[in-house]
Amino acid sequence: MSSYVVKKTPGDTAWFRHDRFGMFIHFGLYSLPARWEWMQSYEFTKKEDYQKYFDNFNPDLFDAKEWARQAKAAGMKYAVLTTKHHEGFCLFDSKYTDFKSTNTPFGRDIVREFVDAFRAEGIRIGLYYSLLDWNHDDYPIDRVHPRRTDEDAEQQDKGRDMTKYAQYMRDQVTELLTNYGKIDILWLDFSYTRPDFEKKFHKPWMQFDGLRGKEQWESDKLIALIRSLQPNIIINNRADVKQDLWTPEQFQPTEWVHDSDDNELVPWEACHTFSGSWGYFRDEMTWKSDKMLIDMLVNTVALGGNLIMNVGPTGRGYFDYRAENALKAYADWMKYNSRSIYGCTMAEPEFKAPEGTKITQSEDGKRLYIHLQTYPFGKIAMDGLHGKVAYAQFLHDASVIEFKESYTVMDNGVNKEMTDKTFFSLPTVAPKMISPVIEVFLK
Ligand code: GLC
Repeated sequence: MSSYVVKKTPGDTAWFRHDRFGMFIHFGLYSLPARWEWMQSYEFTKKEDYQKYFDNFNPDLFDAKEWARQAKAAGMKYAVLTTKHHEGFCLFDSKYTDFKSTNTPFGRDIVREFVDAFRAEGIRIGLYYSLLDWNHDDYPIDRVHPRRTDEDAEQQDKGRDMTKYAQYMRDQVTELLTNYGKIDILWLDFSYTRPDFEKKFHKPWMQFDGLRGKEQWESDKLIALIRSLQPNIIINNRADVKQDLWTPEQFQPTEWVHDSDDNELVPWEACHTFSGSWGYFRDEMTWKSDKMLIDMLVNTVALGGNLIMNVGPTGRGYFDYRAENALKAYADWMKYNSRSIYGCTMAEPEFKAPEGTKITQSEDGKRLYIHLQTYPFGKIAMDGLHGKVAYAQFLHDASVIEFKESYTVMDNGVNKEMTDKTFFSLPTVAPKMISPVIEVFLK
């Protein structure tokens, strides 16, 4: 058994830590301007100018079954959909707003179709819900609000009642957690008590009345409500209250994420995009290579974490060809190598990854996976394995990999025996596989 002790949290993270790999989906009105889901904020877009995206929202090629099929093929075991992003537009038929997909020309409850289709494929269901809301009249003009630079911004902010908005969030979260069956993850985003931001802007984020943080979101109340409706659900930490999930965003940790208060290892999930933006961004040129995508998944699991990779569907509701290609890269790799991901975690400390490799180990401790991210010539030597290897093979084709516990090298004309490592012999020609994996059966 793995010797790493993971922090006990209120929700059930056992399935999550086993499954390791999920799909994020950012879909909303911002898919139409197609230049980042924050576009409304970056461009200070007025409500009346944003309205055209609502009036023209009609993703006629949306097919939740097709999304689910691609997620499953890519090896993703759970999926998280933006039910409402910062723009405030709801993909579900909420009683509490008119700003929802059922009121657009499209007229459908997208959350419902997502939940049904993904569940049918055996994929666990996660819902993203934004704490920020640039459409709600009681949401304050904070430091990222599209109206923040208006001359009369302070005036506009007057009378906005955050307690009403907090109630609105609870009402909508209640809808989401009662009308769609069992929900496995609620992904809140995000409360901004962030010292780094405050330093940068010299002011709390809710600029005019100085409000900030979990008190205003009434996070404790929100979380208590969520737990009462779905007790075992996984909740992330972005409501400013520590729950089940730490979520490093768009960067790769270099060690197992830990709770800075007590240093315990925590359940964590790196969230990443294929190209930089979360919402569909037509002209973005920074798409990651297939190899980078695969290596990011491996690097994450090698540090005991999960990876959630994002797709931003187009305004017509399908995954564009670049996203499809990226998912295909995962599908091709996971078909043969998923055993080194599911049920795997950081390898025991006695096993040191040889240069150019990453290692993962099954939770039961029985198998070790050496991911050859840089393919070496001839052989690879590893510490800590002496007397422990029963058998080794390439994972993708089960072709045997011979190994020795000593190795003789010719050093300056003198034979030198090396006995401190385990040596795996490799074919000179690398298998046609991104970062091929050696599967080591431990005694
Ligand atoms: C953020 C962004 C956002 C994105 C999210 C995903 O904090 O505001 O647009 O949805 O992270 O992690």
